[in-house]
Amino acid sequence: MTTNPQIEQLRHLRQQALRGGGEDRIARQHAAGKLTARERLNFMLDKGSFRELDMFVTHRSHDFGLEKQRYMGDGVVTGYGTIDGRPVYVFSQDFTVFGGSLSETHAEKIVKIMELAMKNGAPVIGLNDSGGARIQEGVVSLGGYADVFLLNTLASGVIPQISLVMGPCAGGAVYSPAITDFIIMVQDTSFMFVTGPDVVKAVTHEEVSFEELGGALTHAAKSGVAHFVAENEEHALFLAQKLLSFLPQNNQEDPPFIATSDDPLRMDEALDNIVPQNPNKAYDMKDIIRHIVDDGDFMEVHQNYAMNIIVGFARLGGHTVGIVAQQPTVLAGVLDIDSSTKGARFVRFCDCFSIPIVTLVDVPGFMPGTAQEHGGIIRNGAKLLYAYCEATVPKVTVITRKAYGGAYDVMSSKHIRGDVNLAWPTAEIAVMGPEGAINILYRRELAAADNPEQLRSQLVQEYREKFANPYVAAARGFIDDVIEPRETRPYLINALEMLQNKRDTNPPKKHGNMPL
Ligand code: HXC
Repeated sequence: MTTNPQIEQLRHLRQQALRGGGEDRIARQHAAGKLTARERLNFMLDKGSFRELDMFVTHRSHDFGLEKQRYMGDGVVTGYGTIDGRPVYVFSQDFTVFGGSLSETHAEKIVKIMELAMKNGAPVIGLNDSGGARIQEGVVSLGGYADVFLLNTLASGVIPQISLVMGPCAGGAVYSPAITDFIIMVQDTSFMFVTGPDVVKAVTHEEVSFEELGGALTHAAKSGVAHFVAENEEHALFLAQKLLSFLPQNNQEDPPFIATSDDPLRMDEALDNIVPQNPNKAYDMKDIIRHIVDDGDFMEVHQNYAMNIIVGFARLGGHTVGIVAQQPTVLAGVLDIDSSTKGARFVRFCDCFSIPIVTLVDVPGFMPGTAQEHGGIIRNGAKLLYAYCEATVPKVTVITRKAYGGAYDVMSSKHIRGDVNLAWPTAEIAVMGPEGAINILYRRELAAADNPEQLRSQLVQEYREKFANPYVAAARGFIDDVIEPRETRPYLINALEMLQNKRDTNPPKKHGNMPL
C-alpha cells in the first residue's frame, strides 16, 4: 500500500487495463478454449520480460454509443520482450474488447511497435484474434488497416514477421497475417476468411461452416494460407518460439548458432538403403532428412499442403538451413502448381534472411494434364525457377534419384547458381525417364517390330545404362561429386562451411518482375 494518491491512481488504472473487456467476457474467452491476450504473451515471452506500451490508449470515436464504452488499451496489448533472451516486438489482440476489432488507435499501437521493430532489427510476432475493422469507426478503421498493411510490406524481408491466428479473424484481420512470413493457426478455435459464412450464403447461396470455410485444417491443407497447425493455443505459442530459434533477428544478421552434440562427421549407414533398387518404388524423403540433420530435428513448414514437396528448417553443424525436397511418396514427387508456389515462397524467405538452402532432388518432372496447364503450371512453375535463380544464399544440392527434364534445371541445378551439387550413385539425370524417351525416339521401330515389348525393354535397358546415372552430368561438371549416401551429412556440413562467406549479388534494379 502507498499513501501517495497519484501512485494509487496509476495502480488503479493499470488494474483497469488488465481487466480488458471485463470478467464476463474473459470468462467467455476461457470457456471457448482460448487464453486472453495477456495470458498468451506471458506464455510466449521469457518470464518477466514483457514491457507493455500504450496501455492508456483509448479510442476516439463518438458514434453508435462508443463514446460510453472506452476500454484502456483499445483491444490490443502491444510492447516488447524476449524469447530465449532475444528481443521481439509483439502485439496481442484482445477479443474481450469489441471483439479485438481494429480501430484507428488500435492500428496506431500496432504501427508503433512495428516501426520500433524495424529500427531495432527485431522480429514482430502478432497474436491475432479480431473481428476485423471496427465497424462503428467506418473508413477510419479501414485507414488503420491500410497503415498496418503498409508497415507489414515495408518490413517484409527486413525483419521476420510471424502471425498467430488465435480466434475468428475476419475481413482486414486476415490480410495483415497474409503479408507476413508465417501463419500459425489453432485447430478448432481459429478461423480466417475475407467474408464469413453468412455473407457467403447471401452472395453465392453456399451453405458452409466456419470450419470448412476457414478453419485451421482448411487453410493448412487446401488453401495453403496457414503454414502450421497447432493442437491448442499453448502449442501454437510453442511453435512460434521454435520457429524463431531458426531465424535471424533481421536481414543483416545470421541465424543463431545452436551447438549440438551430433557429430558433424557422422556417417549414417542407414542412408545407403533408403532409396529402393526399383526406380519406380517410393520411399519417404523425410527419413533421409532426419538422418542427415542435427539430432534428427526438422521443423516442417506447410506440412499438410502440396505434400509432394517438403520444405522446412533444420540445422547442420549448429547452423540453420532451409530444406527443400521432393517427397516420392506423394505423386512421385512431381512438380505441380501448388508444390511450385510452396517451394518458391520458402526459397525466397530463406534468401531474404541469409538461410542457406539444401535441396534434395527426386523429381520425375512437371505434372502433365489440362488441369495443370489451364491452371497455369507454366506461370507457377516459373515461380520456383525464378526463386532459385534469384537466390544468392549458399545453395547445396543432392540428387538422390530422379532429376528429369525442366525440373532438373529448376531444383537448384549448377546452371542456376547451385554452389555445390552432389549426387548419390542412384541418381538418374536426363531429359526424361527411359520409358518416355524410348517411346518417342523409337516410335517407328517399335510399331514395325515383330516383338515390340522385347525391343522396348532392350532399348529401355540401353537408355538406362547410358543416361540414368549421375556420371554423364558429373563428366560435364554439372555435378561436383558423386557421394555415398552415408557421407551426406559430413559433405553438406563441409560444403556449408566452405560457403559461409559467400558473396553473390544480382544486377542493381528496383526489383525483379517475378511471374506472380
Ligand atoms: C466492432 C465487433 C466486430 C467489429 C465483433 N465485434 N466484430 N465490434 N467491429 N468488426 C464485437 C461484437 O459486437 C461483440 O461485442 C464482440 O465483438 C464479440 O463478438 P460476437 O459476435 O459476440 O462473437 P462471436 O460469436 O465469437 O463471433 C465473432 C465474429 C463475429 C465471427 C468475429 O463477431 C463477426 O462476424 N464479426 C464481424 C466480422 C466482419 O465482418 N468483419 C469485417 C469488417 S470489414 P460485445 O459487446 O457483445 O462483446 C473489414 C474490412 C477491412 O475488416 C478490409 C481491409 C482489406
